Amino acid sequence: MKVGIMGTGYVGLVYGTVLAALGHRVICTDVDHGKIQTLKQGLVPIHEPGLETAVRQAMQTEMLLFSTDLEHMIRQSEVVLVTVGTPPQDDGRPNVDAVMNAAAMVGTSMNGDKTLVLKSTVPLGTTRQVEAAIRAILRERGVPYECHVAMNPEFLKEGAALHDAMHPNRIVIGASGEPARASLLRLYRDFADRSVPFLQTNPETAEMIKYASNAFLALKISFINEFSLLAEQVGANVAELAHGLGLDERIGPHFLKAGAGYGGSCFPKDNAAILAAAREHGQELLTVRASVEANERHKNRLVARIVSAFGPHGDMAGRTIGILGLSFKPGTDDVREAPSLHIIRRLLALGADIQAYCPHGMPQARRALGATNDRLRYAADAYECAANADAVVLVTEWPAFLALDLGRLQTAMAGNLLFDFRNLFAGRPDVRQLFDYRPIGL
Ligand SMILES: NC(=O)c1ccc[n+]([C@@H]2O[C@H](COP(=O)([O-])OP(=O)(O)OC[C@H]3O[C@@H](n4cnc5c(N)ncnc54)[C@H](O)[C@@H]3O)[C@@H](O)[C@H]2O)c1
Repeated sequence: MKVGIMGTGYVGLVYGTVLAALGHRVICTDVDHGKIQTLKQGLVPIHEPGLETAVRQAMQTEMLLFSTDLEHMIRQSEVVLVTVGTPPQDDGRPNVDAVMNAAAMVGTSMNGDKTLVLKSTVPLGTTRQVEAAIRAILRERGVPYECHVAMNPEFLKEGAALHDAMHPNRIVIGASGEPARASLLRLYRDFADRSVPFLQTNPETAEMIKYASNAFLALKISFINEFSLLAEQVGANVAELAHGLGLDERIGPHFLKAGAGYGGSCFPKDNAAILAAAREHGQELLTVRASVEANERHKNRLVARIVSAFGPHGDMAGRTIGILGLSFKPGTDDVREAPSLHIIRRLLALGADIQAYCPHGMPQARRALGATNDRLRYAADAYECAANADAVVLVTEWPAFLALDLGRLQTAMAGNLLFDFRNLFAGRPDVRQLFDYRPIGL
């Protein structure tokens, strides 16, 4: 099929690449001309394992093109996937301007019947609003075309996005009419052949499945994080607790690893969105609210844990803290809502000096936190991050950190406190000899 992508970010670029690999002719577009220029040179502006190679392969076969000409893309495409951002506003409701702009562009540019597929995570009711907005534009244009709209939520995880998009565990199609459903079944025929479950439902259910999925996953993380701190106090082991819990098929083993709190571009934003939607309908989602509050409290408790290691008064002036891992999880350069940023901002506010290092998240962290200053420095590697530090805090468990020479790390430091908020080094026999080692929930 001829497929157009509107919004070549994490989701759009990964999906465009996957659909091209599945034999569709794909044009990826974006309003960010710089991003498209970079991609045209075969360079991928985000860090995602395997993506650059896959993009180049798809470009070589000419099944994947990049363009800033959105109108041309719309006219060429049978199916247009909308993968623009839906960032949070102050009241928690997502900003859907980019979605509505993309829809208006489709309405004004289409030259025949099309299917518009919403892959962006959108508030309840948006699919039908998009449908109505395009219909109004077509009526005004006086053209007989039909735009069939479907919500097809995306579940990929950053850090494993290409794999997830290639091997989805379900395809959810929320369409009000048969033509949109039929287009999506053609688009994803390859997945149907591989027996991936398809769920066909109405748009509202599809929109809600996405929010409920993320709310549930975030809840599991908050749940195990709360138990981790209790486990410490009673001499229980949170890793074994999670294993024991996860062996129950009704619970499952995933998203039960204690850490520094959830972050990223999806969980915080989507939880805020579903809470706002519930409020608008006079409802309160108590479990979701609790998960959000538990997450905030957890991050603050971890900051308090660092501070209290230096005495009861919380004055961190003159203390140097090394922060290892800035991206919200390994495998991605994305630092949106990363716990590391929360911890760094709080420690800076308390007067500490910060030395930060991340294998891939540094450019984005610089944009989020500001460039180097007197009290915030970005290190060239983990050892420089630890140099003369009173404490090192591992926030994100990049696998590369496993290969660190812990003796060298300790020698570089001024103190010997190692906070390991992902229990990455817990299995290393030397860690407790070298450091005042503070894992989480063990
Ligand atoms: N990132 C994830 O892991 C993930 C997973 C599932 C769902 N989602 C959802 O998918 C959507 C996109 O997320 P993302 O992380 O890919 O965002 P992103 O910010 O990485 O990319 C969005 C892109 O859309 C472009 N854009 C904005 N308006 C446009 C327009 N009118 N026409 C063309 N391009 C336009 C932006 O320039 C940007 O490049 C969001 O709704 C998000 O919640 C994200």
